[in-house]
Amino acid sequence: MTLDLFADLPPQPFHEPITEGAMLLRVFAAQEAPALVRAIETILAAAPLRHMQTPGGFRMSVAMSNCGRYGWVTDRRGYRYQAEDPLSGQAWPPMPALFTALAARAAQAAGFAGFDPDACLINRYEPGARMSLHQDKDELDMSQPIVSVSLGLPATFLFGGMERADKPRRMRLESGDVVVWGGPARLLFHGVDTLPEGEHRLTGRCRYNLTFRRAR
Ligand code: SIN
Ligand code: FE2
Repeated sequence: MTLDLFADLPPQPFHEPITEGAMLLRVFAAQEAPALVRAIETILAAAPLRHMQTPGGFRMSVAMSNCGRYGWVTDRRGYRYQAEDPLSGQAWPPMPALFTALAARAAQAAGFAGFDPDACLINRYEPGARMSLHQDKDELDMSQPIVSVSLGLPATFLFGGMERADKPRRMRLESGDVVVWGGPARLLFHGVDTLPEGEHRLTGRCRYNLTFRRAR
């Protein structure tokens, strides 16, 4: 007989440095994941998911919404943050305290104290959706990190270099994993490979991603 002392413990968080300024916090949000998904569903009832258009006129395969003081949007006029949901003309739903606290805690764990996000982009990937390599550069203060929370179906995250052509590292992100990047990694190219078919007990046939930003 072997005694498995750890069999009953939930998986423990494991901090994996990616590159200077970027950290993968495995399992970091796993306990809160069901509550996060419920909060997302409430937000989406007020600010529904939509497929936005790129400035070049392409429909994004990822469906998006936002909560917080500002929301990230794109249309033929360009990429930007705005305080109103263009679908309703109303303010975005407020950011739940659970979100703000998780984002601050994750940033702190990755070495960025005092993170106070004012924008949270909600991405929904269905099988076949992807996000091509890009930099997050519509925010004012580049000393503030990005905190990215994965929920539901696993995805392959692409973490590249300072040039779009740099070959990206591929990382599998599971539900509850959190990636934080800032400082020297703040402007690194990143994206998400095409989501494979699947079914997840929390989200069904999709992956949600929350990205917390300090927009203004
Ligand atoms: C993003 O870069 O906004 C999304 C990243 C992700 O879905 O993991
Ligand atoms: Fe991004």
